[in-house]
Amino acid sequence: MPRLEETIVVNRSRHDCFRYLADFSTIEQWDPGVYRAEKKTAGLPEVGTLFDVTLSSAGRRIPMHYELTQLVDDQRLELVGSADGLSAQDVISFETVDETTTRIHYVAELEFSGVMGAVAPALKPWLNRVGQKAVEGMARALEPPDALAQRTVVDRVKERTVLPAAWDFTQRGYLKMEHKGLSEFVDGQTAVVTGPTSGLGLAAACELARLGADLILVGRTPEKLNRAVEEITAFSGRSDDDIEVVRANLLQLQQVRRAAHQISAATDQIEILVNNAGALFDERAETVDGHERAVAINLLCPWVLTQSLIDELDAGDGRVINVASGGMYTQPLRLDDMQYQNEPYDGPKAYARAKRGLVALTDHWADAFEHRSITFNSMHPGWADTPGVRQSLPTFYNLLGRRLRDARMGADTVVWLATAGAVEGVSGQFFFDRKPRPKAIFDGTQVTDDQRHRLVQWLRQQG
Ligand SMILES: NC(=O)c1ccc[n+]([C@@H]2O[C@H](COP(=O)([O-])OP(=O)(O)OC[C@H]3O[C@@H](n4cnc5c(N)ncnc54)[C@H](OP(=O)(O)O)[C@@H]3O)[C@@H](O)[C@H]2O)c1
Repeated sequence: MPRLEETIVVNRSRHDCFRYLADFSTIEQWDPGVYRAEKKTAGLPEVGTLFDVTLSSAGRRIPMHYELTQLVDDQRLELVGSADGLSAQDVISFETVDETTTRIHYVAELEFSGVMGAVAPALKPWLNRVGQKAVEGMARALEPPDALAQRTVVDRVKERTVLPAAWDFTQRGYLKMEHKGLSEFVDGQTAVVTGPTSGLGLAAACELARLGADLILVGRTPEKLNRAVEEITAFSGRSDDDIEVVRANLLQLQQVRRAAHQISAATDQIEILVNNAGALFDERAETVDGHERAVAINLLCPWVLTQSLIDELDAGDGRVINVASGGMYTQPLRLDDMQYQNEPYDGPKAYARAKRGLVALTDHWADAFEHRSITFNSMHPGWADTPGVRQSLPTFYNLLGRRLRDARMGADTVVWLATAGAVEGVSGQFFFDRKPRPKAIFDGTQVTDDQRHRLVQWLRQQG
């Protein structure tokens, strides 16, 4: 029976370490041998909680099931795991070194059967390396870097050659990230998330709730909002008392303003605002306010909502995160035709131009509020399998299939921007996979200061 045993000392309190690891599905963030993991039992982890863990080995995906068999608060976790030809018993124990330092002892006893049983002794050195990498990853996740990672020379070359860079928009880019941990708790902070009923918004809301944020969810369909609350509480173990729901069709500026009023009435302090709701339309149509729909939901909605909540954001040293799109790289800002009236409608182009506007607006806010305590950053999530992508880009969806990210991978940079100490005070940047990226690659797509100024004038005229 191979036994792996590792000890690490990390600069985190014992309670933080225990809290992060008790939800064993975080293993997907720290063990490089794990592809994905999911908590299958709703609520906070307790004895009997089940986890599905998908291992990744030599290009194969191996499903494994774990059960939490012992949980002693801040002291000890025991799990039993099983897969085809393998059973495992994991014990993670926690010992205080001092107030901010914890010793974590990890023991895994593995038992192989069948063919694997015969070769197990020969696998011992390899298994030891796997165990070592897992605890090194655990230490990295619990001690997040306090400085921003910068683009490497390889990143810069790829950006110039476009296609290889775009290949990283698939799950490949996320999986090769060295730091995937999300362990910086934000207890008591208020996070407003638009579009939380599916895809990236739902994934971000789940993770922010697990990290301790109280949520205000802004969406249009009551049933979908109720289902989102159920999913978030099941994922995070939080109570539905920690989640408020605000109903608004974000295509209509009157309703965006009303949502902002409701939010202001509910809280006088916002630490996190995620402008995530967005959509790509096949055909041109106008909202009740006479706005083309892509520009309304992707640009005018964040404009009105954020402007309306500036005081609450200021009070909360707020972080505003605007969800843009890599498609933005292909389009310039078209101030001469913001509503896409002068040429035959092209949904992906209209969407990309609106997102280009959103990134330019993020820069405007970062400059305009430099003297206040609010930060504004935009990001793009890569290409993720969400209802939005399936519905609006079916050919693209079928082409990329399983290479697409899942929603959690797409939402990772949103949650990281909302919580990471490394982003404290950083404003006006455009992120992908936790690194600042260029805002324009192709000639003629860079937004000048004058264009930005005129964009804001146009936005002010709309609402
Ligand atoms: N998935 C990707 O690969 C990808 C790539 C680049 C950028 N993005 C961006 O990521 C964000 C999230 O997209 P997603 O892929 O997660 O799509 P999604 O699954 O379709 O989610 C979109 C969210 O926005 C909400 N929404 C749309 N129109 C609304 C309206 N008029 N009023 C209120 N809520 C509205 C949706 O609510 P309902 O449930 O009520 O429809 C849903 O909660 C968007 O800004 C999108 O542009 C996604």
